[in-house]
Amino acid sequence: MSTKIAICPGSFDPPTDGHINIIKRARKQFDKIIVAIAKNTSKNTIFTTEERIEMLREIFKKCKDIEVDSFDGLLVDYCRKIGCHTLVRGIRNMSDYEYEFQMALANKTLYPELEFIYLMTEGQYSHLSSSIIKELIMLGGTSAGMCHPIVEKKLKEKLKK
Ligand code: COA
Repeated sequence: MSTKIAICPGSFDPPTDGHINIIKRARKQFDKIIVAIAKNTSKNTIFTTEERIEMLREIFKKCKDIEVDSFDGLLVDYCRKIGCHTLVRGIRNMSDYEYEFQMALANKTLYPELEFIYLMTEGQYSHLSSSIIKELIMLGGTSAGMCHPIVEKKLKEKLKK
């Protein structure tokens, strides 16, 4: 029997509880999930790739079926390289939908065998984003219920620097 693998890609700068929720729900449908961190995105990331890997590995350290990896360049090339044909992403609202739709079409043109699975956010995460969490912590707020404690800790360390 073949192993069912899916990739959950993102910039994860930093990962939010919304991301974690999507990854944990995707886990129920697959034998293995690869959380793939994009090294270079159009975003100016606050965390290095190594820091994002470290946070996600800590968050999922008890989940033997979740692997954390990073990739450079095109997502489709990474999928081809590791032989994975399924992507999972979360959708919070209509603007996510439009963005995902455009990305899916572009990726599908580049890699026709690739399929996409979208999970609707659970209500309590629909307002969350990496930017909101960064701003909250930077301005002295608390992010309880929005991100894992390791993320808050790492953001506070950044702030001190
Ligand atoms: N709950 C809460 N927040 C969520 C979320 C969820 N379920 N899903 C997404 N978000 C938020 C994130 O917090 C992030 O917020 P921000 O805009 O404030 O930073 C934002 O939505 C999206 O971030 P993320 O999910 O980390 O992914 P991304 O959209 O930055 O990543 C890639 C997109 C990496 C998949 C895409 O850029 C890519 O494939 N890059 C590789 C290059 C490539 O192949 N390009 C061609 C694509 S066609």
